[in-house]
Amino acid sequence: MQIPITVYVAVAIFQHAALAICTKLLTSGTIIAFDDKTQQLQVIREGSLLIEGDQIISISDVAIPGNISENVEVIDCTDKIITPGFIDTHRHGWQSVFKTLGSNTTLAEYAGRYSAFVSQPLLSPDDIYISQLAGIHEALNAGVTTILDHAHHTWTREHATAGLNASVDSSARVFFAYAFQNIPGFTIQDQITHWRELAPTVSGDLATLAIAYDGWMGDLQDPDTQAVMKLALESKVKVLTTHDVEGPWPLYNTPEVLQRVGILNKSIPIVISHGSQVTANSAQLLRQTNQYISITAESEMHYGHLHPTSHLILDQASLGVDTHFTFSTDILTQSRIWLQSTRARLYRDAIDNWKIPANNPMSVNQAFLLATRNGGLALGRPDLGVIMPNAKADILIWDGRSPGMLGWADPIAAIILHANVGDIKDVMVDGEFRKRDGKLVIKDYAKVQDRFLQSAKRVQDEMKGIPLPIPEGTFMGGYPYGPVLQVDTQRGEGTGYGPSYV
Ligand SMILES: *[C@@H]1O[C@H](CO)[C@@H](O)[C@H](O)[C@H]1NC(C)=O
Ligand SMILES: *[C@@H]1O[C@H](CO)[C@@H](O)[C@H](O)[C@H]1NC(C)=O
Ligand SMILES: *[C@@H]1O[C@H](CO)[C@@H](O)[C@H](O)[C@H]1NC(C)=O
Ligand SMILES: *[C@@H]1O[C@H](CO)[C@@H](O)[C@H](O)[C@H]1NC(C)=O
Ligand SMILES: [Zn+2]
Repeated sequence: MQIPITVYVAVAIFQHAALAICTKLLTSGTIIAFDDKTQQLQVIREGSLLIEGDQIISISDVAIPGNISENVEVIDCTDKIITPGFIDTHRHGWQSVFKTLGSNTTLAEYAGRYSAFVSQPLLSPDDIYISQLAGIHEALNAGVTTILDHAHHTWTREHATAGLNASVDSSARVFFAYAFQNIPGFTIQDQITHWRELAPTVSGDLATLAIAYDGWMGDLQDPDTQAVMKLALESKVKVLTTHDVEGPWPLYNTPEVLQRVGILNKSIPIVISHGSQVTANSAQLLRQTNQYISITAESEMHYGHLHPTSHLILDQASLGVDTHFTFSTDILTQSRIWLQSTRARLYRDAIDNWKIPANNPMSVNQAFLLATRNGGLALGRPDLGVIMPNAKADILIWDGRSPGMLGWADPIAAIILHANVGDIKDVMVDGEFRKRDGKLVIKDYAKVQDRFLQSAKRVQDEMKGIPLPIPEGTFMGGYPYGPVLQVDTQRGEGTGYGPSYV
């Protein structure tokens, strides 16, 4: 073995086992590590990985080290691929109860039907709790270990707290970004007071109280904007996030806007979700201030916010899911969709010029990094999304003998292009199993499911009774609606689009 690996296991195991009880050794697996020196992924075949408490201690190219103390829990990873957990930098977990209702929705219809402001009357704090909890379980099962949740269910103190409680109870790593938004009877000033009260109740490293705010694009001197900025700076909030959907859409919290307000270039990591129409100037600002956009590949295609320029700023980009009630919950799918649509986008330039593409524009390694390490960097956490010494032990163990992956030579290609989330057998967050041998490790999970199903049925029944908004005139007083060609998969009259089987 020629790979130079820094820390050596035989010594390390003995020393650390003596200090702590919770030591795990993953043996004989293929590890997709990150080499901080070369800034490249590093594949270690037939290696082992030592975890103590919530941290990765060392990585070795020795399959089974000779000197294993009896306090160490040994996990045989023969035929397994070991990767960091995925990081989702944009999600709205509270919407899980709407599952499958929005299979053919558009962004305008979403705004008038499922968005935070209009669906508020349908959900009690209990609904929010169970919807958020089941949504995070869904993510954990799919190998997402860290989530930046843009929590815009902050309609009352109770609703807000319920979502935070569920995030804490989920045992995933959740940055709960409490959304400050104008709600009649619960003003942004009230929400800020509530945030300050909640902050000291959130301890430990798994749940973090963060901030979401979409009002930067308003008046610079707006007292709410000034108050949110003051809170962010005074509290040294760990992460701040905002929606940026440009073009004809009215949510342009662009890097330029944030820079003008004076929040972009402070020490707070900022995740700009979508950043769909990012300009060359925005991209330069992101680089100069080391801030990130969160590309939600499937969402931007499903709803039509699109992402015509996002591939030009992948060095300051991570991946997110967004409204997982309408599509995939997992970052594996996002990275695959984004990889292939980026390839398609760039091949088109050659084909449109009647040229035969001579090379391939984006690699599986890049897709893997977007789904893991870049998410950690976006959150200001270089210890997340990587397997290297001192990183957090958020780990996935994949079945490398699954029917889909069988025969792989390149483990990164196997995961990005051939695996599915069912191939993720074990999920570890902070060094503890959340999924083991293909099953979520959750106390009374059947009860959680039952409670979720009750909420989902009631909310969905009510939602189905509300007529769909009619796309006429202009959207929110801005741009006019325009028709989109619908395809046909069958010949004949009336066999076209078909109903929704809700
Ligand atoms: C295991 O580690 C202990 C303590 O460092 C040492 O005394 C012993 O010789 C080691 N055994 C082997 C087989 O390396
Ligand atoms: C949230 O959790 C706290 C602490 O366990 C509890 O006191 C409170 O009632 C919970 N609130 C809601 C709305 O679930
Ligand atoms: C951001 O702040 C850093 C450090 O103060 C400075 O070097 C850099 O020029 C600033 N960038 C922008 C775009 O303001
Ligand atoms: C989705 O499908 C339903 C049923 O066919 C239809 O009524 C609705 O208009 C469709 N929504 C959109 C946004 O096209
Ligand atoms: Zn969103």
